[in-house]
Amino acid sequence: MNIDINVPDGVSGIYKIETFTVTEEQASHESMRSIFSSTSRPIGPGTYKRLMRGRTVMMSNTPMEIRDHIGFINKACGDVLINGLGLGMCLTAILKKPEVQTVTVIELSQDVINLVGPTFGNDRVSIIQADAMTYKAPKGKRYNAVWHDIWDYITPDNLSQMGKLHLKYGGRCDWQGSWGKELCQRQQRQEKRYINVF
Ligand SMILES: C[S@@+](CC[C@H](N)C(=O)[O-])C[C@H]1O[C@@H](n2cnc3c(N)ncnc32)[C@H](O)[C@@H]1O
Repeated sequence: MNIDINVPDGVSGIYKIETFTVTEEQASHESMRSIFSSTSRPIGPGTYKRLMRGRTVMMSNTPMEIRDHIGFINKACGDVLINGLGLGMCLTAILKKPEVQTVTVIELSQDVINLVGPTFGNDRVSIIQADAMTYKAPKGKRYNAVWHDIWDYITPDNLSQMGKLHLKYGGRCDWQGSWGKELCQRQQRQEKRYINVF
């Protein structure tokens, strides 16, 4: 599955949207690295977009990132809430689904909104500048699907915020998910096993 991003390249504060290319040679090098490293994941050759904060890649539309969002993209219907606008990758994908009626996006960074928001000037989309952890949804509002994706990396440290968000939306939605939750849980189990051994 490909998701083409229409967000133009640009800079706002320390955030940047940029187009980049992965050559065949780079792709095969990455693929070798991923065999020996549990954190490195291979990227196929191609031309992609990414959102950077300084030198940190926050999001890209590479196949591995798309794979992480497939579960949510499949579930999205009716009224949807997304925590974390990022590159607008999953927003792009779910707006192609006619069964998605409205999407509310909560994004902390005004710079990200400046760069990505204008591409989604659409009756179905509301982008709200707020902290996902403290944002209060309108009284009585229910969502068909909620997706939490406010983290740069997969680490067990994310699990506490995921727990809080899942508790917050548990009674307000039919389905919710968090980016990389199973991988964070697996890493946590591995860390516990390591501590038990030593
Ligand atoms: C990995 S990106 C999201 C990628 C997005 N799912 C996509 O499809 O492109 C994470 C986003 O969450 C935002 N963010 C980080 N902490 C946040 C918070 N507490 N509340 C709302 N947004 C937050 C970041 O600024 C960033 O735009």
